[in-house]
Amino acid sequence: MSHIGSYEERVKEFDWSLSETELDYKDGDVLNIGWYCTDRICKMGKADKTALIWEGLGGQEKRYTYNDIRVASNTIGSFLRGLGIKNEDRVCLFMDKIPELYFGFLGILKIGAIAQPLFSAFGDESLLVRLSNAETTAIVTQRKHVSKVRKIIDQMPYVKHVIVVDYDGKKPLREREIAFSLEEAAPVDEFEIYPTKAESPSVLHYTSGTTGQPKGVKHVHYSLISQYLTAKWVLDLQEDDIYWCTADPGWVTGTSYGIIGAFSLGVTQCVMDVGFSAEAWYKFIEKHKVTVWYSAPTAIRSLMKCGDEPVKKYDLSCLRHLASVGEPLNAEAVIWSERVFGKAFLDTYWQTETGSMMITNFPGMKIKPGSMGKAFPGITAVVLDTETYEPITEPGKVGLIGFKPGWPAMMREYWRNEETYKSKFINGWYIPGDRSSIDNEGYFWFTGRDDDVINTGGHLVSPFEVESALLEHEAVAESAVVAKPDEVNMEVVKAFVTLNAGFEASTDLELKIMNFIRKKLSPLAMPQEIEYVNTLPKTRSGKIMRRLLHAKEWGEEIGDTSTLEDDE
Ligand code: WT7
Repeated sequence: MSHIGSYEERVKEFDWSLSETELDYKDGDVLNIGWYCTDRICKMGKADKTALIWEGLGGQEKRYTYNDIRVASNTIGSFLRGLGIKNEDRVCLFMDKIPELYFGFLGILKIGAIAQPLFSAFGDESLLVRLSNAETTAIVTQRKHVSKVRKIIDQMPYVKHVIVVDYDGKKPLREREIAFSLEEAAPVDEFEIYPTKAESPSVLHYTSGTTGQPKGVKHVHYSLISQYLTAKWVLDLQEDDIYWCTADPGWVTGTSYGIIGAFSLGVTQCVMDVGFSAEAWYKFIEKHKVTVWYSAPTAIRSLMKCGDEPVKKYDLSCLRHLASVGEPLNAEAVIWSERVFGKAFLDTYWQTETGSMMITNFPGMKIKPGSMGKAFPGITAVVLDTETYEPITEPGKVGLIGFKPGWPAMMREYWRNEETYKSKFINGWYIPGDRSSIDNEGYFWFTGRDDDVINTGGHLVSPFEVESALLEHEAVAESAVVAKPDEVNMEVVKAFVTLNAGFEASTDLELKIMNFIRKKLSPLAMPQEIEYVNTLPKTRSGKIMRRLLHAKEWGEEIGDTSTLEDDE
């Protein structure tokens, strides 16, 4: 049993006010995540405790105390406020995992503005749709990413400032661009934090759907109440832990648990701004004596693929608690991790919209490899019949996951898209869009998504977005994008295309198209394979039948094609 008690005890007594009390928060109080993650920890006597250990590409290391991150977030917040940025303005963070990303995030929250983190590998098109939907006021970025912003800046009249955090004075800055250096700026010790309340907007994350453009998921400062408690209980974070969350804050895991959860608990966390390699990861764990590790199935499968040998080269006995999120964690990966690390990765299930963990393997609970675990205390989770939307009571029967609304970190809206937001609630349940069954002990067994969205390595990719981008390539006449099975990433993007007259199918063209998508959207959205076809299967009214292509890729029965030919 962990220090926080058993799952059964916690479920029985549960009330979110437990978290409010620990955070000294009462209904109606000022509530600012930026303050909770820095100033409050300092006030609790931990100003000199290490908050962040950061390691960069060249192996350089930087350490920051809680007082350092309090002052750094004040300094960035003050600079942004000085530019005229005010509460509820959207401020985009478009950066690698450098320290300024973490402090900038907290600084934006401190001035009451909305942090809009975007994955730094995004290309100009991915950037443009998300910034124009949010009508973002400012972009905080690095030199290496400025060129992507420059490409689209003329289409973004609402962007007033592009802030470059590592300007070296070499090439002149352009209109709207301004340099900011955390090292050179005068540190701001005393800062007037904007008095946000529970329902004030905090973070805007974009997530992909099957149709239409990505949706802006709006969270509020009250999300802290769930993020704090789930980080404490499920990640089992304790005073002396060294915590490593491998997620990038461009995605929700990287903010909810890579910034907010850990800092609000006053824990030391480390960040590695380097791409994946098994040896580098193990070395990092050994060097920093990581005790709690929150990662993703694709990373675990990649480590597994590298075998047991690299594991043996390092002393990983520091690891105490491992957890995973983002995609199905297969039983083999759980069993492997138990064998090589002496600890099983505990699966957690949630999504951008839910803001915090929903179904979890609570520490101390019996693990059933391949299951996502049980509903977190305070969360009412069911599977619903797909016709009636009534909860299924029969164990083992698959239905749509449903959550009873009301936990603190739930999104408050899709940015300016009320219709889609409303469509997520049926019969009083929030429907995340995934299928699962529940066994006779309340464990959830994920079976798949209920839409065409591709989950590649834990990242959601909209087939619609890739298809639209493909059509912008001069050679492509029509396109259909589906998931293709992959050993490590579970799914990868595959595109079927028909070519315009005058273009020849070739490997060279395939590479050109792939590169086109990589640059425009991102490496994640880039098709791993392009299949040239003469025609694409279509319904009578001309809608492309992705499901048929998908079934073929997965070797599934296509079933009754007459229904597939009907428009839905
Ligand atoms: C979708 C949400 C929130 C973390 C990052 C992903 C899938 C998430 C699991 C899991 C099987 C999972 C679902 C979900 N997913 N966790 N443990 N087992 N599938 O956030 O980008 O909003 O994606 O990821 O399909 O709806 P996201």
